Amino acid sequence: MVARVIPVEPFDLVVFGATGDLALRKIMPALCCRFADGQMPPDARVIGAARGTLGADAFREEVARALDEAFSGADAPSPGCRRAFLQLLDYVTLDARGDEGWPALRDALRGDVVRAFYFSVAPGLFGALAERLERWQLITPETRIVAEKPFGHDLASARELNAMLARHFDETQIYRIDHYLGKETVQNLMAVRFANILFEPLWNARFVDHVQITVAETMGIGGRAEYYRQTGAMRDMVQNHLMQLLCLIAMEPPHRFEPDAMRDEKLKVIRALDPVAPGDVVRGQYDAGDGAPSFAEELGDPGTMTESYVALRTGISNWRWKGTPFYLRTGKRLRRRVSEIAVTFRDPPHSIFGEDARWRENVLVIRLQPDEGMDLRVMIKEPGPGGMRLKDVALDMSFAEALGGDLRIPDAYERLIMDVIRGNQTLFMRSDEVEAAWAWTDPVIEGFEATDTPPAPYAPGSDGPAGAGDLLRRDGRQWREIG
Ligand code: BG6
Repeated sequence: MVARVIPVEPFDLVVFGATGDLALRKIMPALCCRFADGQMPPDARVIGAARGTLGADAFREEVARALDEAFSGADAPSPGCRRAFLQLLDYVTLDARGDEGWPALRDALRGDVVRAFYFSVAPGLFGALAERLERWQLITPETRIVAEKPFGHDLASARELNAMLARHFDETQIYRIDHYLGKETVQNLMAVRFANILFEPLWNARFVDHVQITVAETMGIGGRAEYYRQTGAMRDMVQNHLMQLLCLIAMEPPHRFEPDAMRDEKLKVIRALDPVAPGDVVRGQYDAGDGAPSFAEELGDPGTMTESYVALRTGISNWRWKGTPFYLRTGKRLRRRVSEIAVTFRDPPHSIFGEDARWRENVLVIRLQPDEGMDLRVMIKEPGPGGMRLKDVALDMSFAEALGGDLRIPDAYERLIMDVIRGNQTLFMRSDEVEAAWAWTDPVIEGFEATDTPPAPYAPGSDGPAGAGDLLRRDGRQWREIG
C-alpha cells in the first residue's frame, strides 16, 4: 500500500543534544525516513548542535553510523537516499550555558522558513537554551520548540518548567512530546472509537467490566542508570505513556480532531482520575538472571527503592466510567514485549443456555506492539453434535495483513516531527495536561517514598511480582497473560 505523502514546507530544524542517544537512535532515522518518502522538501535543513567540537563532516559520519544501526529491513531508505539526507545536515558546536556557537547558529538560520528547535537534552538545560534563543534573537513568529520528556520530575518542577517556557514562547509554539501519541496504533485507537458506531454505545461502566493497560518490555535499563535512578517506572512510563493511553480510551468524543478539542477532553479524564489508594499499587524490581545483572546492580545501588515495575488500580469518577476499574501495569525485563489495551465487557444479563453454559467475557484487545492489530473475543457455538456447547473464539485482525503486506508502520517520531513543522499540536501535551498528570502521580510517588517496604523482587522473563496478581484477584479478576 502506498501512503499518501503531503510534503511539508521548507524548514530549519535545530537539534540540541544532536550527538545524544535519542537524537541518533530516533530523531535522525525518523527524519531520514520522511526524507526518503519525499515529505521533506529538498531545501529542508537539519542543524545538529552539541558541545562536542565535531565539524559537519564528522557529525554526518556519526549520523550515517546511527542510520546503519537503525535500519535493517527491506523497507529501509536506500544507501543513495541516506547519502542525500546526510547532505541536509550541518553541525554547530554550542555551549548551552555560554555564548560559544550562538553567533554561528544565528548565521546558519534562514529568516523566512519554519524554524524548529528540538530540546533533546536534559530538562535542566531547557531554561538556558530558551534564554539564549531569546537573547540571540532567534525566536521568530514561525518558531516552535520541542520539549522531550521527562517534562519535570513532579508537579512543582513541571510548573516551573511551564512558567519558564511561557516567558519566552507562546503555548502554541511549545510541543511537549509523548512519543506514544505518535504511534500509529495509538492514533488508531481514536479511529476505532470515533470512526465506528459499533463500540461507542457499549463504551461505559454499564457494559465495560474493567480495562487493563499493559506496557511490558523485555529490556532492562541498559545504559540509562543515571536517568532511571531518579525516575522509576511510575515517572518514566505511567505519568505519561500509560496515562495517555488511558485518556484515549476513556475520553469523551471531542467535537473535532483538533488540538484543543482533543486536549480538553483528555484533561477532563485526568482530572476525574481517582487517587490511587496505598493498597492499590504494587512495585517491583527485577532480579539478576539469564546472565544479566539485577536492577539494583545496574543502578549501582544495592539498597535502591526505585521501581522497575509498577501495577496499580484506579477508576474514573464521572458518569461514563464510575464503577469500572482501570488496571495499569508496566515493567522492564518481563516475559515479552507487549503493549496492549484490553477492554473486558460484562456478561450478558441472562443466559438462555442455562446456568451451566461456559461463559467467557467479550474482550476487545487493541495491540499496540508488536503485531499491531485488534482482537475481539466472542462466544460461538462449538461445531458438531452434543447439544449447545459454547466456545470463545478470537476475531483477530492484524493491521499489517488487513492493510497489505508491504505496509511499513512508521516510527512515532516520524509523524510527530512532521506535525511540529506543520504546526499541528493535536498529538502533543498542553501545559495544563502535563500538570494534571503530575498532580495525580505525585501522591502515588509520595506513598512510595513514605514506606520502608522495598519494591518486590521478580524474576527476569516473568510476568512481574506475584503481588500484582492480588490487585485483580481480590476483585475476582485476573491479569491477561503477557505473551
Ligand atoms: C521511553 C521510556 O519514554 O519509552 C523508556 O523512557 C521506554 O524507558 C520507552 O523503554 C518505551 O517506548 P517504546 O516505543 O519502545 O514502547
